Amino acid sequence: MDWMIVYFTRTGNCERIAKKLAETTGYPALRMIDDVNWSGFFGFMKAGFYALTGKRTKIKVEGKLESDRIVLITPIWAGSITPAAKSFLDHFDPSKVLLVTVSEVTKPQDVYRSLKRKYNLLGVHGFNRQVDEDKSIKELAEKLQRV
Ligand SMILES: Cc1cc2nc3c(=O)[nH]c(=O)nc-3n(C[C@H](O)[C@H](O)[C@H](O)COP(=O)(O)O)c2cc1C
Repeated sequence: MDWMIVYFTRTGNCERIAKKLAETTGYPALRMIDDVNWSGFFGFMKAGFYALTGKRTKIKVEGKLESDRIVLITPIWAGSITPAAKSFLDHFDPSKVLLVTVSEVTKPQDVYRSLKRKYNLLGVHGFNRQVDEDKSIKELAEKLQRV
């Protein structure tokens, strides 16, 4: 199998993008969950704190990872990737991961600048409110064919 899509989501945006990408490419999308309750106001505050302090969480991918190339889709929390995504990259070889970030206003390039120093990623792609989501999904699907 070529690629698998793994996504983490708190409010559904990454899930929507993961599912659209799966539909476009035919690659399976698996949800990743962790051991923290992120819901509600306290969940939001906790999410910001965990992201800012570089905390990791205990993760579980709901399904079998059968591919050695992964598209990892994660929200941006406080200018950083989520604790779950960091935990995933602690366990899975980053050089086999194309990281996809989903944010509101943060520019993906600003996030990648700091990530580049830590992880030797296979590639990066970003969504925020400024981009046309469907067009960007098409571009991402094409990128997966080239990498
Ligand atoms: C704790 C927290 C911090 C966030 N920080 C940022 C940020 O720094 N920049 C940004 O553009 N969006 C930020 N967001 C918004 C999310 O990145 C955005 O809503 C994303 O689409 C959420 O994905 P999801 O719906 O899959 O959970 C933050 C959200 C949360 C919960």
